[in-house]
Amino acid sequence: MNSAPGPTTLPSTRDWVPETAFGKWFLSTNIWRKYVLELAVADLRRLGGEGVAGVEKMLDVGCGQGVALPLLMQHFQPRSLLGIDIDAAQVQKARQTAAHCGGQVSVLQSSVTRLDLPDNSVDLIFCHQLIHHVAHQEAALRELYRVLAPGGALLLSESCAAFIHTWSVRLLFRHPEGVQKSADQYLALVRSIGFVVDPQQTEASTPWWSLPDFGLLRRLGLQGRTPEVTEVLMVARKPGLA
Ligand SMILES: C[S@@+](CC[C@H](N)C(=O)[O-])C[C@H]1O[C@@H](n2cnc3c(N)ncnc32)[C@H](O)[C@@H]1O
Repeated sequence: MNSAPGPTTLPSTRDWVPETAFGKWFLSTNIWRKYVLELAVADLRRLGGEGVAGVEKMLDVGCGQGVALPLLMQHFQPRSLLGIDIDAAQVQKARQTAAHCGGQVSVLQSSVTRLDLPDNSVDLIFCHQLIHHVAHQEAALRELYRVLAPGGALLLSESCAAFIHTWSVRLLFRHPEGVQKSADQYLALVRSIGFVVDPQQTEASTPWWSLPDFGLLRRLGLQGRTPEVTEVLMVARKPGLA
């Protein structure tokens, strides 16, 4: 088993590429909440099974404006929920959302590659659409492995290179160059850290919003070849104590 070390000294590449104004606005829309976030939360809840509900401490890493915080409280009912994001402006907004969640919900500013949390201190991690924003993806996943308690689960939802590298995403959003991966590559990276992913607890898909024509040809029954996978979901477990 891979016992991941603490925060590492990272190469000089910037850890964070600030999002565009359009991107920040889009993440606050009902389209994002309804067609992306709510579906991912419900799918990960289903894939995770009973073991992921009612845990003591849950983390929403890369929480952005905190749109997922009330959904996570509703679907997973953790005793406490902590949101973390690197962007100070997003953290401010997430704190406002947290204040209305009812329950023990708080938000901190930090990078996923240097979490100010003890080893083995979190029972469940929700990581939605963060890793493709991070230049040092291996370091980020090692850090998530470090803070997760043995037997705990990382609920990961990622957009793949096939979507992030489309002209429309390149035009409207900002990401670090050349680090995005295919669904299989994300799965291999997560497993290389030491996480265990049951093949029954991972799903790949190509939702309508990730298609260049927003699924128009699919709706009309005119879609030709099977499109490339653009989204991947997985429940990645840190092995329990022997
Ligand atoms: C696509 S948004 C997703 C936000 C949220 N998870 C959601 O689904 O609404 C990506 C988020 O990751 C944050 N982020 C980017 N790099 C980060 C890092 N190194 N550490 C923590 N957060 C980071 C950004 O500030 C942004 O809020």
